[in-house]
Amino acid sequence: MNILLTGPNGFVGARIRDALTVIPAPSLRTLGEDEVRRLVDRAEPDVIIHTAAVSDIGACAADPEGSRRANVDLPLWLVGTGVKCVLYSTDQVYSGFGEGGPFREDEISPANLYAEEKLEMERRALELNPDTVLLRATWMYDMPRYGSPNRGNFLVNLLRAGGGEIALSSTEMRGITYVREVAEHMKEAVSLPGGVYNYGSGTDRSVMELGRLLAEEAGLRITIREAGPRRNLWMDTGRLNAAGIVFRSSAEGLRQCCLDYSLGR
Ligand SMILES: NC(=O)c1ccc[n+]([C@@H]2O[C@H](COP(=O)([O-])OP(=O)(O)OC[C@H]3O[C@@H](n4cnc5c(N)ncnc54)[C@H](OP(=O)(O)O)[C@@H]3O)[C@@H](O)[C@H]2O)c1
Repeated sequence: MNILLTGPNGFVGARIRDALTVIPAPSLRTLGEDEVRRLVDRAEPDVIIHTAAVSDIGACAADPEGSRRANVDLPLWLVGTGVKCVLYSTDQVYSGFGEGGPFREDEISPANLYAEEKLEMERRALELNPDTVLLRATWMYDMPRYGSPNRGNFLVNLLRAGGGEIALSSTEMRGITYVREVAEHMKEAVSLPGGVYNYGSGTDRSVMELGRLLAEEAGLRITIREAGPRRNLWMDTGRLNAAGIVFRSSAEGLRQCCLDYSLGR
C-alpha cells in the first residue's frame, strides 16, 4: 500500500515514519490547492495520512486566517483529490464540557478556535468523502527526538520539573498517549471504515495520579501539588476498540515508555 504522509518531520509524523513505510510529503505551508493536487497525483498514493497542522491552540487564536488555511482548507484539498484520507483531529472538541465523560464521538463541545476548525474539517471531509477517517488524538508524549523540535508534553514537562514542583489536577480526567503507540496503530488505522474515532489511550486515573505514577516509574524527585479543577478531555474509545484497535491505558503507556527508555532504572 502506497502511503503519502504529510508533516513527516512533525511530532507525530516523525514517529509514523519510524513505524511505517511511507512517502514523505514536502512542506505544504505555501502550496495552493492545485499544487497540492499535483503533489498527490505524482505520489499516486492509496492512502494519505495527514498530520501537518497548526496544532497549538494559542497559535490558532493568534492567526485565525493562517490556522483556517492549515486546519480546514488544506485537509479538504487532500480529501478533494479522491484518495482515501486519514486526518488527525483532536480531543479539544470536548473542551467545553468542564466535567463529566468519558465522551463519545457524537458528544461535542468545542471551546477554542482550534477545536472549532477541527470539527468543521471533520464534518466537511465526511461530506466530501464518507470513506475519510478522522482520528481525534489525545495529548501525546515521548522523549525528545534527535534532530526534531522539542515541544512540551506530559513526559517532558515532568522531566523538566525534576527536583522542583509541578501542579497537576486530582479531578482532571483525560487520556494521555504514548506517541509511539499512536504511530504503531496507524498500520490498522489506514484500513478503518470512514468516520470519526476517539484515537488514543483511555484512563481511569486523574492527571495527578498519572503524574505520580510517572514520577515513581521514572525515579523523579518531584513535588506534585494540586492544580485545582481543569476541563475533562476524557474520551470514550469504545468505537475504536470495536473496530479492532485497542491502546494501552494511559498508566500502562507511561510504564511502557519508561521501560523503552530505561527511565528510572
Ligand atoms: N501533539 C499532540 O499532542 C496532539 C494532540 C491532539 C491532536 N494533535 C493533532 O495531531 C496532528 C499532528 O500533531 P503534531 O503534534 O505532530 O503537529 P506538529 O508537530 O506541531 O506539526 C506537524 C507539521 O505540520 C506542519 N505545519 C506547521 N504549520 C503549518 C502550516 N501553517 N501549514 C501547513 N503545514 C504546517 C509542519 O511541517 P513542515 O515544517 O514540514 O511544514 C509540522 O512539522 C495535528 O493534526 C494535531 O492537530 C496533536
